[in-house]
Order: sequence, then structure tokens, then C-alpha cells
Amino acid sequence: MVEPKFFETIAPLYDFLTKLFMGGTYESMRKRMLNEDTSQMEILDLCCGTGYISNTINAKRIVGLDQSDAMLARNAKVKRPNKELIKGNAYQVQFKDGEFDRIYNSSASHEFKLFSRLLQKSYQALKPGGKIIIFDIYQPKNRILSFFMNTFVRYVVERGIMFVHTKEEWRQMLTEAGFEVEELESVRGLYIFVKAVKPLQGKLPLTAAG
Ligand SMILES: C[S@@+](CC[C@H](N)C(=O)[O-])C[C@H]1O[C@@H](n2cnc3c(N)ncnc32)[C@H](O)[C@@H]1O
Repeated sequence: MVEPKFFETIAPLYDFLTKLFMGGTYESMRKRMLNEDTSQMEILDLCCGTGYISNTINAKRIVGLDQSDAMLARNAKVKRPNKELIKGNAYQVQFKDGEFDRIYNSSASHEFKLFSRLLQKSYQALKPGGKIIIFDIYQPKNRILSFFMNTFVRYVVERGIMFVHTKEEWRQMLTEAGFEVEELESVRGLYIFVKAVKPLQGKLPLTAAG
């Protein structure tokens, strides 16, 4: 997790640096995250940044939430009539129960010490049958990739603090929040792709059920 002010400084270069770091994965993952017809859906881009999802997705209503003024200002440069940008802390902002059909969270879960809390909030904010789609770095099992993740990525890219999870931890967090996992796949050894659904017959999250 980098300090909030980091994004204030990096915002003008963020897209360029991210594409450079991710190479071909940048576009291929966006395609994969957006591989369905969402044109009639209400969507939340959680930690929307400069608009990787919110400025590309075709949707009836797009809400982008982020806590960085500078990232939101970059995002706002792309005008879309059905897009609302909200400044706020994802831990604190309240959405209505069942407000969204899809929630996207890209390259941001590692910023949160308690990402499971965001999963619980997302579950509440989704309609039954709604889905959360997540893409981010993760904790690889492979020793070489794990070394790279926990040295270069942790100390150079993320300035010492990041929260990454193994595939098993992801499955547990999603299940505990009440989701059914549809896809949980490591991508190129360094990233995780998640698609999980809030069941039509609402399950109680395990944490709430006790
Ligand atoms: C690495 S960027 C990813 C941006 C965008 N989703 C993308 O894929 O390019 C992480 C974003 O998360 C935002 N962020 C971090 N912690 C946050 C929090 N607690 N509440 C809201 N936004 C947060 C940062 O401001 C930043 O814009």
C-alpha cells in the first residue's frame, strides 16, 4: 500500500507507467474483465483511478469511487454522460443494498489491509446474481515469482507495504463474504483474476452468520 499522496504525485504518469510495467497484460486483462454485454447494467468501479474500467466499459450507469483527487481529475478528463465520480474512502463510503449489477476492482486490492471488509460491502451493494470482478497482483507459490513479488514489487513498486493473498486465501475471503466463485485463476504467475457471484438465493456471509 502506498501512501495516498503517492497517487496525487503519480497521477499524470500513472497510465504510462502501468502499461510499461504490465506490458501486454494491461490490455488483455481489461478485455477479459469486460468480456460481456454490460450495456444495461449499473456498475461500480471500486478504486477507479484514472478510469481503466470506468472510461472503457459500456454501461447504463457507471459510478467510479476513489480517494485520490488527482486520479479522479485524470479520470474526469474523459466525459461520459452516464458516469459519476465519487471521492471517498472505500472502507467508509456506503452504497444502497443491491445497487449494482457489477463491481470491478482492478489493481487495487493490494492497497487494503482488510480487503475482506470491501468484499463484504461489495456483497451488500450487489443485486442478487450480481458479480464482482477483480484483477490484481497476488502471492504466487512459485519461488522465483514469489521472490520477485516480495522484493521488487513490494519494496520498489509499492514502497514497502502491500497486501497480497494466495489463491487459497482469495477463495476463503470470497466464500466468507457469501460469494460463489466462478473464476479464480492466476495469470502469468503474478496476477490473480477473480469473478464471483452473489447467489440469487442470498447466502448469509459466514462472518454475519457466525
Ligand atoms: C493502483 S491504482 C488502480 C487504479 C485503477 N483501478 C486501475 O486499474 O488503473 C489504485 C487506486 O486505488 C485508490 N485507493 C487506494 N486506497 C483507497 C481507499 N481506501 N479508498 C478509495 N480509493 C483508494 C488509489 O487512490 C488509486 O487510484
